[in-house]
Amino acid sequence: MENKARLIIGEKEIGLPIIEGTEGDKAIDIRALRSQTGYITYDPGLANTGVCKSSITYMDGEKGILRYRGIPIEELAENSTFVETSYLLINGRLPTQRELNAFSVMLNDHSLVHEDMRHFFENFPRRAHPMGILSSMVNALRFFYPELPDEEDEINITFARLLSKVRTMAAMSYKISRGHKVVYPRHDLSYPANFLNMMFDSPVKPYIIDQDNVKALNVFWILHADHEQNCSTAAVRLVGSARVNLYAAISAGICALWGPLHGGANQRVVEQLQEIYRQNLSPKSLVEKVKREKNFRLMGFGHRVYKTLDPRAKIMKEMAHKLVSKLPERDPLLDIAMELEDIAINDPYFRERKLYPNVDFYSGIVLRALGIPLNMFTVMFAIGRLPGWISQWKEDRDDPESRLYRPRQIYVGENLRHYVPIRERGS
Ligand code: ACO
Repeated sequence: MENKARLIIGEKEIGLPIIEGTEGDKAIDIRALRSQTGYITYDPGLANTGVCKSSITYMDGEKGILRYRGIPIEELAENSTFVETSYLLINGRLPTQRELNAFSVMLNDHSLVHEDMRHFFENFPRRAHPMGILSSMVNALRFFYPELPDEEDEINITFARLLSKVRTMAAMSYKISRGHKVVYPRHDLSYPANFLNMMFDSPVKPYIIDQDNVKALNVFWILHADHEQNCSTAAVRLVGSARVNLYAAISAGICALWGPLHGGANQRVVEQLQEIYRQNLSPKSLVEKVKREKNFRLMGFGHRVYKTLDPRAKIMKEMAHKLVSKLPERDPLLDIAMELEDIAINDPYFRERKLYPNVDFYSGIVLRALGIPLNMFTVMFAIGRLPGWISQWKEDRDDPESRLYRPRQIYVGENLRHYVPIRERGS
């Protein structure tokens, strides 16, 4: 087959190269389009536009496939840890035992946050959302830690710093928001156990680490670790393409993730379930409301890429059931969620639009079972997404074809008109 697409515009015909990915994804390379024809493409939301070549994550939204560096998400959730998966994403392959040990030591070595940063934390208004605090603090890291030098070892230290300190800062912001004493990280605890301990240990009530909760948190973070060119990752790449430092690019990603249509959905899902519970509504009436009111959405449903069940949602659902079954009392929100899911997936409105539960639909139930407060849900997502953002930033930095992001537009405003002095403008 000719590996060119033929484009005919009026009298003119041009050939545009076809690019094929390792899994058979096909794209038309339009880089020469504007220079050869004067035309650009129109694609709001970039839903049909490949902005880079990437070897990090493969997903097939029709078949419900998700793989990191070629490894299925199901295998990683079953067998890996978040630290090992982070190494895999950033370095492109699974570590040897020695490499994993060295990476874990590096994470421990960089887990403390500069004491002066506490002044920042302590002066945010008490009601400030932790995502706002986190994005500001990540940006502020640059003032406390040096710019990235070019040597690879130094860059790896910066990656470790981010992975380790963001977790510490997240727990710290929670403790400070409650007016409680900050708990420091401990070298003898694993990455997720350390986080749970920093969140929940207290001088009056020591936190007892439950290994099922540690496993659940590992899986939660593995499921969130990367998702190719989603909104926040695209933000990291876009801001990074201006060659800002890594901290600034990650801070932009955190801001994008905060939005309710993206990572902020996990908080909104639980708020919606709580509303059903508090007002004693039936899940069916909510589904009817979604169908009646165009701008009202069922949170945790639908996805730009998945047109079948999100593979992460399947794992998250199983985990939610397991964790809730261990709680002293059953979480009524889980029952509501299950009923809602059942009604929605069998409803023609959702079926026709291929709207299935996404990862956020059950992630809130998992986080509730772990004792994570509602306003920290999206922060939990951000910690999980960090290795993805870092590896995508690194890939963009090292890609010889990467360019400063600079989309174009179709101008639909006023044609040329001239300035009118204010006295001549009428009343
Ligand atoms: N509830 C009800 N209707 C929906 C929903 C939903 N959750 N999602 C999409 N639709 C409908 C739209 O109204 C539209 O209907 P129409 O064809 O009659 O106009 C159709 O489905 C297509 O919707 P789009 O907005 O074009 O789909 P898009 O791919 O742009 O949106 C998105 C994807 C933003 C995730 C959307 O499904 C949504 O808002 N979901 C709820 C928020 C959510 O759960 N976000 C988390 C996503 S996963 C993540 O970021 C980790």
